[in-house]
Amino acid sequence: MKVTAIANANIALVKYWGKRDERRILPQNSSISVTTDCLSIKTTVEFSPEYKKDILILDDKEFKQGSKEYDEYFESFLNKLRNLAKKNISLYRHFNNFIRNSYIRNKFVIRRRTWREAPMFVKVVSQSNFPRGAGLASSSAGFAAFAAAANKALGLGFKNKELSILARQGSGSASRSIYDGFVEWKKGERKDGLDSFAEQIVNENYWPDFRMIICLTSKKEKKIKSRTGMAQTVKTSPFYDGWLKTIDDDLKKVRKGIIKRDFSLVGKTAEENCLKMHALMLSTKPPIIYWNSGTIELVHKVIEWRENGLECYFTIDAGPQVKILCLKKDLPEILKRAKKTAGIEDIIVTKPGPGPKIVENHLF
Ligand code: PMV
Repeated sequence: MKVTAIANANIALVKYWGKRDERRILPQNSSISVTTDCLSIKTTVEFSPEYKKDILILDDKEFKQGSKEYDEYFESFLNKLRNLAKKNISLYRHFNNFIRNSYIRNKFVIRRRTWREAPMFVKVVSQSNFPRGAGLASSSAGFAAFAAAANKALGLGFKNKELSILARQGSGSASRSIYDGFVEWKKGERKDGLDSFAEQIVNENYWPDFRMIICLTSKKEKKIKSRTGMAQTVKTSPFYDGWLKTIDDDLKKVRKGIIKRDFSLVGKTAEENCLKMHALMLSTKPPIIYWNSGTIELVHKVIEWRENGLECYFTIDAGPQVKILCLKKDLPEILKRAKKTAGIEDIIVTKPGPGPKIVENHLF
């Protein structure tokens, strides 16, 4: 069965940087994000006995065995998917009643599909409308779309909670793109990761004035992937304990700020949190420096504009792009100023957006 899903990237306001379990993709800390309305990835998957191997095509380029994308991301996620299907989602066997019931309900569907039809190989074609691997959270949209499409193609019947757990195992931040609006990924405590999933804080219509201006200072693919970078940080940054000690306070403030639509509280806390994450990166050995001169230029400008009465804040992920947080009323003025800033290649304006959806028009 061929299934296509579209999902949007999310941008973290309280970041995830570091895992407690690398294989299961379990984070050291909880995180909060906003799902965007326009950084989209569309993915078509087809499991079929006709395929003699797994095929991965991202933005018109085929990735083969031996590439990082294929081996570390695609194939390892696929193996998890296959195991899930083959073992009748035993992952959920000991979970709560709701999950248990859906396990029992889905067991027969999956059995019929996987054991009899044995859809061993898959073709995945994915198209994004923004640069991948450049610090725009493309993996969050990519794996949310992949998980949503595979869920339907394999007849898993997962609802949001289970889908978030599934997407998390492709890329941590993808657990949050399963929902629209503002979302929190709870780190969980369990070793098996069944309590590590995202939940919505408020939906995409709750705060219609919230805006994010994404300023691209380079469209090049970054040299250090988040996965590699964060593992190195946990191992070597002397500040990692300090990061963990302050996270709960950041989460509390951002959660409260979102619910009260308190822009100053959300913006200030998000900016501080982002700077703490970059301090971790800088103190990693060897250092991880994602910023370029355009990034620094804009960081100074945002602080200057704010000091002069135009309220805005910045956040930056694992890449050089600066995301300016502002309210709708200040958007035209900030846009005008951002466009004049040196080193900006492109600008995308976004607001809280939707979760994944299944669509009919396939990519192949
Ligand atoms: O999900 P990953 O492995 O792409 O890591 C995401 C890391 C950050 O974007 C820097 C932070 C976050 O919480 O999204």
